[in-house]
Amino acid sequence: MSKAIKKIAVLTSGGDSPGMNAAIRSVVRTCAYHNVDCVGVYRGYEGLIEGDFKNMDARSVKGIINKGGTILKSARSKEFRTKEGRQKAHENLQKAGIDGLVVVGGDGSFTGALIFNQEFGFPVMGIPGTIDNDIVGTSHTLGFDTALNTVVDAIDKIRDTASSHNRLFFIEVMGRDVGHIALNTGIAGGAEEILIPEEDLGLERLVESLNKSRKTGKTSSIVIVAEGDKIGKNIFELKEYVDENMEGYDVRVSVLGHMQRGGAPSCFDRVLASRMGVKAVESMLNGETNYMVGLINSKMELTPLDNAIKGKTKINLELLRVSDIMST
Ligand code: F6P
Repeated sequence: MSKAIKKIAVLTSGGDSPGMNAAIRSVVRTCAYHNVDCVGVYRGYEGLIEGDFKNMDARSVKGIINKGGTILKSARSKEFRTKEGRQKAHENLQKAGIDGLVVVGGDGSFTGALIFNQEFGFPVMGIPGTIDNDIVGTSHTLGFDTALNTVVDAIDKIRDTASSHNRLFFIEVMGRDVGHIALNTGIAGGAEEILIPEEDLGLERLVESLNKSRKTGKTSSIVIVAEGDKIGKNIFELKEYVDENMEGYDVRVSVLGHMQRGGAPSCFDRVLASRMGVKAVESMLNGETNYMVGLINSKMELTPLDNAIKGKTKINLELLRVSDIMST
């Protein structure tokens, strides 16, 4: 039988995302509800290696559900990738009498958690927090919904100036390997074209399609480009290509960047974070560890961490079709 869990640590790791604070709050308060001690770890795995811990009770997390970023701070730790680093982390956890670890982060953070579990048999649990929505085992990662709203707001504003000047705008959005932000915000922001890593439109077809739109009477256009788009050119080279191969459009580029990761979490992300924290802690207390919590068909479910890491999210083909029809 596995050892009873009496003290849980929580950390946030990798790129921050709106809703991480709400998840910390939920983990801490669920521990308090079940009379389990809770410890916050600063700067992700870096803090685990340095023993940078803080005891947390229900009151330590007041006033944070509406805050972007993470009060525990985040990092991408190089040292945790080494056996020595993980050894130090394990010693610190043991010294502090911690029995289980909740990791809020993306697939890189979960890979670290799983290796740590395999090496030391230490119970871990993942809460998916990344704006990219690129984790298998949940329809939504924490921060995705907020980032979508932030991006749509930016597109709306850019469209005002684009249409005033009859301009074509290329807008780059985040998504290192996936096009979920681009596809959803492109549809919601009425983009003429959406370029995502999962689909190679090709430069000629892009120009062809923009020319077609012009002929139907469009005087300005928005093209959403996912950061990881594989069309072969970065967004500035794309602009140059269109400048050289299309008549009459004044082309501009806007890279939205890290503003997409900040801001107050949406209602959806706050509720999701609260549900995920409860599920993560209660599952651990029930002896279920080495899983990731996620939203599947509106329910909180567990996916083995291994599967969450190995799987690759798929782009929604129906959304692709909708975007094609909408840009007619
Ligand atoms: O993983 C989330 C993400 O926001 C990606 O979309 C982006 O490519 C990356 O993080 C940026 O990372 P950094 O903050 O290290 O520049």
